[in-house]
Amino acid sequence: MNERTVVEVTDLTKTFDNGRVTALNKVSFAVPEGDLTVVIGLSGSGKSTLLRHLNGMHEPSGGSVRVLDLDVASLKGKGLRELRREIGFVFQSFNIVGRVTCLENVLSGALGRLRGPRYGVLSYSKALRREALEQLDRVGLADRAFQRTDTLSGGQQQRVAIARTLMQKPRIVLADEPVASLDPEISGQVMDVLFRSCVEDRITVICSLHQVDLALGWANRLIGLRDGELVLDTRVDSELDQQVVMDVYQRLDPTGQKIHEYRDSTAVTS
Ligand SMILES: Nc1ncnc2c1ncn2[C@@H]1O[C@H](COP(=O)(O)OP(=O)(O)O)[C@@H](O)[C@H]1O
Ligand SMILES: [Mg+2]
Repeated sequence: MNERTVVEVTDLTKTFDNGRVTALNKVSFAVPEGDLTVVIGLSGSGKSTLLRHLNGMHEPSGGSVRVLDLDVASLKGKGLRELRREIGFVFQSFNIVGRVTCLENVLSGALGRLRGPRYGVLSYSKALRREALEQLDRVGLADRAFQRTDTLSGGQQQRVAIARTLMQKPRIVLADEPVASLDPEISGQVMDVLFRSCVEDRITVICSLHQVDLALGWANRLIGLRDGELVLDTRVDSELDQQVVMDVYQRLDPTGQKIHEYRDSTAVTS
């Protein structure tokens, strides 16, 4: 691994149900520090399974995963906790605590940097409270700091989750379809907040997405999965052929005809 490579996946294979389901099949790619990588693919193509290997939530059936120069599968206990401190994870379902304030959710992002548990906003230092308010300000929610998080809209709750992740001061952010449950306009705003903050903080991002248009707005790198296989790995620049991207969504119908699918909704037979 060269010094600026932060993620290196080699021949990663993952099977479930005693080998009956192959979720990932010999997937290999490497991510340099600071890259904004988006993983695209239809539902079931293996995006979540891939991301979950990067922070040790899944163990490979074959191949290897190196993150920040560590072999993830060999880490346990303290070693795994230390790696996870460097990796923020943004979930489709937000994973915030609804009944506490936005500020407390964001403060909890700092727990990995502290010793021992914390109960309530006042159990954090003044400096951390100021830092958490600044993170809320970055995601445009400073005025909601003392509001219960479950009173916010979906897009706002995801922004709280992003502020909490930034509070962790991670080197890598993994985001698994972070805007899948939001409508298109709000999705764009949340993606902007996520990617702009990570660029500012020089955080490497690997984000799975369903929507190609959103991916092209921010990614400088696209990875495509189809049926667990890596079918695309390209820089995003003006040369990028949109058809190559759309081919990631191609499926074969039972007669062997190619079917182009996009967002699972429009299917075009070619
Ligand atoms: N825990 C699991 N047990 C069995 N099969 C799984 C499990 N997780 C994922 N799969 C299967 O692996 C494939 C890839 O799933 P997933 O990574 O969730 O895809 P995506 O995130 O792209 O929708 C699917 O066929 C899915 O049903
Ligand atoms: Mg998924």
